[in-house]
Amino acid sequence: MSHMQGPKTKALYEQAKQHIPYGVNSNFRYWGDDDTLVIARGEGAYIWDADGKRYIDYRLGFGPVILGHSYPAVVERVRAAVGNGTVFAWTTPGEIELAERICRMTGVEMVRLTNTGTEATMHALRIARAYTGREKYIKFEGGYHGMYDYALYSTASSNHSKLLGPRRHPRPAPASAGIPRRIDDYVIPLPFNDLERLEETLEMHWRDIAAILFEPIMGNVASIMPNPGFLQKMRELCDKYGVVMIMDEVKTGFRVANGGAQEYLGIKADLLTYAKAIGNGFPVAAIGGKADILMTAAPGVFALGGTYVGNAVGVAAANATLEIIENEPVIATINQRGRMLMDGIEEILTRVDIPHVVIGPPSMFGIVLAAQQPTDFRGFIASDTALSEAIFMELNRRGVQPDADNREPWFLCYSLSEADVAETLQIFEDSVIAVKSDYVGSHSSAIPGD
Ligand SMILES: Cc1ncc(COP(=O)(O)O)c(C=O)c1O
Repeated sequence: MSHMQGPKTKALYEQAKQHIPYGVNSNFRYWGDDDTLVIARGEGAYIWDADGKRYIDYRLGFGPVILGHSYPAVVERVRAAVGNGTVFAWTTPGEIELAERICRMTGVEMVRLTNTGTEATMHALRIARAYTGREKYIKFEGGYHGMYDYALYSTASSNHSKLLGPRRHPRPAPASAGIPRRIDDYVIPLPFNDLERLEETLEMHWRDIAAILFEPIMGNVASIMPNPGFLQKMRELCDKYGVVMIMDEVKTGFRVANGGAQEYLGIKADLLTYAKAIGNGFPVAAIGGKADILMTAAPGVFALGGTYVGNAVGVAAANATLEIIENEPVIATINQRGRMLMDGIEEILTRVDIPHVVIGPPSMFGIVLAAQQPTDFRGFIASDTALSEAIFMELNRRGVQPDADNREPWFLCYSLSEADVAETLQIFEDSVIAVKSDYVGSHSSAIPGD
């Protein structure tokens, strides 16, 4: 089986490994020593590696590039902004404009900026603790909220049955070495879409629970959707027990609808975290939500800030990106292309007789090779992830780039054309046929059961 690196990419990757551990600055970018790419540039819906090989990009930097790579209107605004300085340790007019825009588009009352999704959810959790005077939080297995100790539990990277524990009594499963064991005490993992477990847990432990931190659509588990009524009931329970509902919209925000998952699913949370699509690939993120909760972050009693928050680059990028999303049919266009792709993939997989479901919103859909739609992370890992990886790697070899790991949805951008969709479907069909003829037996991973 041929590897992804051409000769120049290989040489650069070997050079990278000399001074960058594993040759990557984020471990999620490591696909092994022969398949980790070095990308030279991106434009619109495409990226090119160091050998000049072009890929139609469905990773989009793990989701942020909603308009397309190097989108001229955004690049121009950033260029103009940096000519006037970058950070001043004061509020700038651009930050005021951005806060107003985010509030208008999402319906949040107030907003604080951060640089990354990690910071946004980390601060949101602390705000919820300070607001409620409680210390623990509930998360859902497979959900990912960033790189700090409290969040790195039972993520999609902790997919080992022994780590997750029994389904009815899940254990907090650290997703990294180096996390102090005591942090376990503050994290309560539950299966997504299981109302009974959620209700039971809140009934018993609400006095200790500050927040539920959750992805409304499981953007780190192939875009598994919430069951009808699940989030509505969660809303009721949060109100009943005084628990802060933190909707992590880092992947869904400004992508599934102009107003994110709140608009798409018709649900209002207390705090929301945004990153990724807000800045079309520039580092900018935000915490939004109810004013009385956010005002907990009072100077002198609460720590919330950072040298680079509100920097001119991120702010200009976000103002430009959101202005385009508000004024052009960005999401409608992406949805139309996404729907074509989902239908085409559905048709191909049916024709070749591979059990599958294609799920989630068209702007970030997931493909799961299973006869039944999974409703939580354990359901997902029972699917044929080995076959999907084989197909997705073949797509990559042929110039279409979803993540090889199908936990990651297919992300679409505004620059993706109907011709790109047609090309993708042709390559998808060729790849599936090639892989199917090679692929022997079932490679399903075991489901961690009760
Ligand atoms: C839902 C969700 N929350 C938080 C994060 C962390 O964001 P960042 O990588 O910007 O720190 C991610 C990153 O993929 C995410 O998908």
